[in-house]
Amino acid sequence: MSAVICGTGSYAPAYQMNNDEIAKLVETNDAWIRERTGIRQRHIAKTETTTYMAAQAAGRALENAGISPEEIELIIVATLSSDVILPCTACEVQREIGAKRAACFDMNAACSGFTLAYNMADAFFEAGQYQTALIVAAEKLSGLTDWTDRNTCILFGDGAGAAVLKKGKGRHYFSVTHSDGEKGWALTCKNRLAVTGKEPLSREYFIDMNGQEIFKFAVRKVPELIREILRENNVEQEEITWFVVHQANCRILESVAKHLGEPSWKFPMNLQHYGNTSSASIPILLDEMNRQGKLKKGDRILIAGFGAGLTWSGNILDWEM
Ligand code: COA
Repeated sequence: MSAVICGTGSYAPAYQMNNDEIAKLVETNDAWIRERTGIRQRHIAKTETTTYMAAQAAGRALENAGISPEEIELIIVATLSSDVILPCTACEVQREIGAKRAACFDMNAACSGFTLAYNMADAFFEAGQYQTALIVAAEKLSGLTDWTDRNTCILFGDGAGAAVLKKGKGRHYFSVTHSDGEKGWALTCKNRLAVTGKEPLSREYFIDMNGQEIFKFAVRKVPELIREILRENNVEQEEITWFVVHQANCRILESVAKHLGEPSWKFPMNLQHYGNTSSASIPILLDEMNRQGKLKKGDRILIAGFGAGLTWSGNILDWEM
């Protein structure tokens, strides 16, 4: 009785920024960025807001699912980069798409956001409260990026992804989520200090990251997470068709695949075109795979997110479209 995805959508801003353009802002170069991260370009919102991107992705997901906005009972938006503090982005999306019946709220679990939104919607279904949900992950990270910091500005991009979920009739899978607040310092953004107006604008207002610490965390914890999800659900690793993992860095994905003894093609990747879009990376990739016809009915997909907090979270879903 796990949640099933019955429609996907995504949106990426029109403006595409390649590595050569970043090399005009900070001391770096295309070859270094490609070799260390796999990223060639990212979409950057020049005019688009987080709400706009979220609503576009949501509208496309509804269209793909073939259902009307009034059928949606729950909207969860995962974001760390909402345009405003209030109202929440989920309520803005509700207004934009006309999902009048939906209960709406935002959640911030950084790059694990989409996975946690999926787990939360699934839990509401299990509790018998809702049967149809829209989960959206939308990020405008460019607004939180210090464009003079080559440690971070090479990595991030903007975009949104969405999925329409329905309570399924098939098997129920158990989610796994872990957090380690002790390591929160490794990836921070203190932007809300700006609201107090007391502090001068400094680097800590932007995303600040210890890249090596995050890299070590990801290559250690993601294989552990995947093994735990499989164990909890009595699923063999070879039963998984696709491992759809947060798109942070190609070296992280390759390392996780190697740790698990899987070929890299089972870890699809589109970060070369988008950079790291935080919570939005998994649904953007799912939407791309869906629209390219790569996902077949009966495919078993393991989703896994990881990021600031620190947080790491995943689940298994059967593809039924
Ligand atoms: N361009 C060119 N050179 C750079 C550079 C850049 N953008 N950033 C760092 N360098 C240099 C460093 O100064 C250093 O030079 P040195 O050897 O002469 O001292 C060298 O490259 C290596 O630096 P290092 O910081 O060790 O790089 P790295 O291999 O750890 O790669 C990251 C940096 C950020 C790409 C990598 O740590 C990473 O991907 N971490 C995970 C980040 C992530 O995924 N975050 C989001 C998680 S949700």
